[in-house]
Amino acid sequence: MTVAIDCAGRIAYLWDAFEKKNAFTDGWRYMKTLRFGIIGCGMMGREFASAAARWFHLPGMAVRPEIVAICRRNLSPENVHWFRDNIPTIKQVTDDFRELLDNPDVEAVYISVPHNLHQRFYCAALEAGKHVMGEKPFGIDKRASDAIVACAGKHPDLFVRCSSQFMFFPAVQRIGRMIEAGAFGTIIEVKAGFLHCSDLDPAKPINWKRMVEYNGEYGCMGDLGPHVCSVPFRAGWVPVNVRAVLSNIMPERPDSDGRMVPCRTWDNATLLCEARDSRSGDIFPLTLRTQRICPGRKNDWYLEILGTKACAKFSTTDANTLGVLEYTGGEQRWQKIAMGQEVPFESITHGIFQFGVSDAILQMWAGFLYEFDKGRSLTGFSGTVTVQETTLWHQLFTAALESHRTGSVVTVSS
Ligand SMILES: NC(=O)c1ccc[n+]([C@@H]2O[C@H](COP(=O)([O-])OP(=O)(O)OC[C@H]3O[C@@H](n4cnc5c(N)ncnc54)[C@H](O)[C@@H]3O)[C@@H](O)[C@H]2O)c1
Repeated sequence: MTVAIDCAGRIAYLWDAFEKKNAFTDGWRYMKTLRFGIIGCGMMGREFASAAARWFHLPGMAVRPEIVAICRRNLSPENVHWFRDNIPTIKQVTDDFRELLDNPDVEAVYISVPHNLHQRFYCAALEAGKHVMGEKPFGIDKRASDAIVACAGKHPDLFVRCSSQFMFFPAVQRIGRMIEAGAFGTIIEVKAGFLHCSDLDPAKPINWKRMVEYNGEYGCMGDLGPHVCSVPFRAGWVPVNVRAVLSNIMPERPDSDGRMVPCRTWDNATLLCEARDSRSGDIFPLTLRTQRICPGRKNDWYLEILGTKACAKFSTTDANTLGVLEYTGGEQRWQKIAMGQEVPFESITHGIFQFGVSDAILQMWAGFLYEFDKGRSLTGFSGTVTVQETTLWHQLFTAALESHRTGSVVTVSS
């Protein structure tokens, strides 16, 4: 199915003609459509719906998502009205993911559900012949991840990726280009982390993300760790081993009735790894911090790379600034570069305007659809997380659990 849109962005008519895709004729532009079902309509399901609704923000895209079906557990009117009111293309609303997967109109699914459901839902979607954008950690544990990877391997014709948006911040894109150009020289050290603080409040009620049965044994690592690994793993910096220190700072939390119940997930994790630069073979220290209790840090994703020729640092607390030190001898000077909208996928937003998380999510979805359409990502750092990268997350987090349990350094990959 293709949709023709005139230059003003007005939908003109539907046209079922694949041969006309991407053609420009008398000012009309034929845009390919990928029809999506969303399974899991919570926080992230809404973010995708909103990104899809402002696709005209990205005038260079030749393919767009269209949401035709949604599935969520609770179909109360107040839970579905936001989707129904805002997305007129939705034709199916169901509380049974199998019904959505049986819908032949759905070509791809975005699955954003609690971690205990990842294996079942991702594998069912692949078996049903749907392309999949999954959410991290792509399986509640290594066993689930292995099952998803095996299932994806059986369906090489399907496009399977995982979401993580922080790589799409302009400063991180610039860092990605520096990595690809070898601008850092020999890597001295890399530090990356994702720090939250709302769990410092002991009265914050427990939710599924703080329950081992839904979130998994990894705790904060499974939740925050994939985002932290996204750039180092894409750079080809592979953890060889890990020594992990995990903390459960709040072992109890109130439930929805105010009764104190055990909270057994890890709040904080610090992982010190020896990492190998797969280009040079050099080994360097890689420190990954994922913390739900880091006082004052509301949603701070950061990355710091120290190299012999250049260094870079970025944090979402100062999201429009990139710190760079280029060393050519003489004075060592950190520069602050104001980034604006230096994005991989052209946007209508003016180049000097500041960038935010919902912009990163839109760019990430553009990365997914571009790669789906073209069969390759636009640049090394503008494609979404691959299945191979998710496998490495699980190797690392599983080794980290063992490291903490045994108090020893544990091998991650040889
Ligand atoms: N990329 C990011 O920045 C980011 C941020 C937060 C969460 N996540 C990930 O997204 C996923 C979902 O997290 P969330 O924060 O959106 O959670 P959420 O609790 O807000 O939403 C989960 C949704 O899943 C639905 N659901 C539960 N069981 C279901 C079932 N059996 N069938 C259909 N729907 C069902 C719930 O109704 C709910 O709408 C997780 O994997 C999480 O790790 C990613």
